[in-house]
Amino acid sequence: MEEKILLNILHEAQDKHGYLSEEVLKKISKKHQIPISRLYGIITFHTMFRVKKQGKHILELCGSPSCLLNGAREIERFIEKELNVEIGETTKDKKFSVYKTSCIGCCDGAPAMLIDGKPYVNLTIKRIKEILKELKNASTKRN
Ligand code: FES
Repeated sequence: MEEKILLNILHEAQDKHGYLSEEVLKKISKKHQIPISRLYGIITFHTMFRVKKQGKHILELCGSPSCLLNGAREIERFIEKELNVEIGETTKDKKFSVYKTSCIGCCDGAPAMLIDGKPYVNLTIKRIKEILKELKNASTKRN
């Protein structure tokens, strides 16, 4: 099976389940007769796939050159400190998962990040504080 088709299958499964658990991967493997090792090879190569249960909000910080030159490291350090996590982790309250990603195509608005797939640009520590506060409040109201 072509990798492009496999990527679509994996994307659909992740969208449906929130992440690609071992159980989900075994089902895909069986249904499409693809060795599970090939599936793991694909999902470990592509950073958009998750194999652990995710937080309610997914923050993906751009770590490519334009963002790095415009303060992405400071944003990253602030978020890690503020949420008490490191890149690749989920907060204890399961509200946020934080990742680093490559260029998201918003270089003219660097530093930039995706929050639940939506781009946020021209980030500053002040703006991040506001965004996190809004997300925390929104989560609290719904929970
Ligand atoms: S380098 Fe960050 S959006 Fe392109």
